[in-house]
Amino acid sequence: MQITVVGQGYVGLPLAIAASIAKYTAFGLDNNQEKISALSSGKSTIEDLSDESIRQGIESKCYLPTTDSLVIRDSDVVLICVPTPLSEDHKPDLTALIGAITTVGKNLKAGSLVIVESTIEPGTCRNKLLPILIKESGLTESDFELAYSPERIDPTNKTWQINNTPKLVAGLTEVAANRAKEFYAKFIDSITLCSSLEIAETAKLLENSFRLINISFINELAIYCQKIGIDIAEVIAAAATKPYGFMPFYPSIGVGGHCIPVDPIYLANAAKAAGAPTRFIDLADEVNLSMPGYFVGRAEEKLGDLKAKKVLVVGVSYKPNVADVRESPVEALITGLKQKGAQVSWHDDLVKEWNGEKSVALSSDFDLAIIATPHDYLDLTKLGNVLILNTRGSI
Ligand SMILES: NC(=O)c1ccc[n+]([C@@H]2O[C@H](COP(=O)([O-])OP(=O)(O)OC[C@H]3O[C@@H](n4cnc5c(N)ncnc54)[C@H](O)[C@@H]3O)[C@@H](O)[C@H]2O)c1
Repeated sequence: MQITVVGQGYVGLPLAIAASIAKYTAFGLDNNQEKISALSSGKSTIEDLSDESIRQGIESKCYLPTTDSLVIRDSDVVLICVPTPLSEDHKPDLTALIGAITTVGKNLKAGSLVIVESTIEPGTCRNKLLPILIKESGLTESDFELAYSPERIDPTNKTWQINNTPKLVAGLTEVAANRAKEFYAKFIDSITLCSSLEIAETAKLLENSFRLINISFINELAIYCQKIGIDIAEVIAAAATKPYGFMPFYPSIGVGGHCIPVDPIYLANAAKAAGAPTRFIDLADEVNLSMPGYFVGRAEEKLGDLKAKKVLVVGVSYKPNVADVRESPVEALITGLKQKGAQVSWHDDLVKEWNGEKSVALSSDFDLAIIATPHDYLDLTKLGNVLILNTRGSI
């Protein structure tokens, strides 16, 4: 069976490779020529996949990276894995998704199955994407199938990978749902059918809103614990001895990445429009966005006036051990420190270059080091006796 995975990023690339290992002929379609050139020459563009796995896919002729959308015309299954970020004004931005679905529609053959994996608001598949597919393809609703299956990939997670992470699947029709289930079953162990597209769309948003709300709550609690002089890490460890009804979350400078700070805003936006606002999400978002500013304040507590003070920010990606800086809260931390007059440098061997600046070496030549994203490779002994501010909990 020939398939096309539209978008070869953190979600689409592992999916196309997994499908190619399952002996589907998988076209990896992306409009980023540079990315496709790298993949075509056997170079992986994400941390979780080795160059070797890309090379094997290409050598087997089962993984075919391309920028040519005509491959959709011969595909039995077309999967959509393009970004669904927020706009400048903190609202859902469907530009890439609408662009991709328009391209798919223009090239869709009768009988194909389209599966959307991008994170979206409830109702988006049925009310926004289906009409575009019908209009652009000239087909009728019964000439093709539409399904939704949210991606749950967790970059760098060595335990839960694409094959063993349970997958939700829903279809516009029962036939669509069953075809999608059959497709994934070749390389995913556990698949749960949801009774409607909207159930699967909302379930994904619930998963990530749950994380944003709980992480923001633990960050508020960490601020309180710091104020009264107790260690939040010890508090969490103590609470986590309860064998039921509690799940530990850990403090940080705030959540980042393409999912956790973004997806809940899709849910909040949809809930507002439906007249049933999700106030927990609004508050969690507010707390999350305030965390970098809180740590600027903590830096001032440690150093006094930050003017001309040399501050090193250690780790700038949104979470440890990835090079992904999308929505990283560290950007707001650096901006806040600079606004106070500090001379800010940053160190991150995974990111290396960011916002026109380069990573500097870890050394003792600073007034303060703020541990923002603690990658495993970091050797903090290189900081010598530099004063340290740890954003990860312990006071
Ligand atoms: N990154 C994660 O951990 C994760 C986890 C679960 C769900 N998701 C969701 O999956 C979706 C994709 O996220 P991602 O992290 O893979 O994004 P990404 O930015 O890593 O990759 C998206 C790719 O799509 C390409 N693209 C954009 N528009 C295109 C078009 N019209 N045609 C062809 N290619 C196009 C981009 O060039 C890019 O390579 C989002 O909706 C996201 O919320 C992401």
